[in-house]
Amino acid sequence: MLKNVLQFAHHLLEETISPGDLAIDATCGNGNDTLVLAKLAGAQGKVLAFDIQKQAIASTRERLEASEYTNVTLIQDSHALVDHYLEDNEEISAAIFNLGYLPKSDKQIITTSNSTIPAVEKLLARLKKKGLIILVVYHGHEGGKEEKTALLEYVTELDQKKYHVLKYDFINQINNPPFVLAIEKK
Ligand SMILES: C[S@@+](CC[C@H](N)C(=O)[O-])C[C@H]1O[C@@H](n2cnc3c(N)ncnc32)[C@H](O)[C@@H]1O
Repeated sequence: MLKNVLQFAHHLLEETISPGDLAIDATCGNGNDTLVLAKLAGAQGKVLAFDIQKQAIASTRERLEASEYTNVTLIQDSHALVDHYLEDNEEISAAIFNLGYLPKSDKQIITTSNSTIPAVEKLLARLKKKGLIILVVYHGHEGGKEEKTALLEYVTELDQKKYHVLKYDFINQINNPPFVLAIEKK
């Protein structure tokens, strides 16, 4: 009955993104979330998908080419520079981060709070009312704990007059299960 973290994250995206919207995949990896965003934003909408790794961009491109979606721009750059790729005054309805390392790839290349937090800050500044930023936080790998701790500290301090902040966490699971953070602009 309970949705796992990815099902829950996708459910939130479905509730938030309407056809014609702009959505951001901050860590496209193999493109699973990118395809979900592309479907929800529709032909009139737009998706920007970021990853620092060439291999991830190539993998997402391959997935998109095999799909019906043509509304995605792939960007091999850090999500911390997201503002460089947005038009002036452009607003987003949702963004998703899947943190950690690319599955079956180099486990040394991980997301870190040095770029994740600036990216969240920049996206919050462009988020529509009722828009959502979702972070799926994997933290069992080396370096994951530091990012988790910094992020939790950051989101806990967000002004409750401006944002709802949710943590969706399976608290009886062993081995550092991933959890979801969702920030909604009021
Ligand atoms: C857990 S994987 C993403 C999985 C992906 N959502 C999927 O569906 O396959 C994390 C990704 O974040 C990327 N990454 C790490 N630092 C980044 C940064 N500063 N900007 C953008 N992507 C980054 C990694 O290269 C890796 O592909």
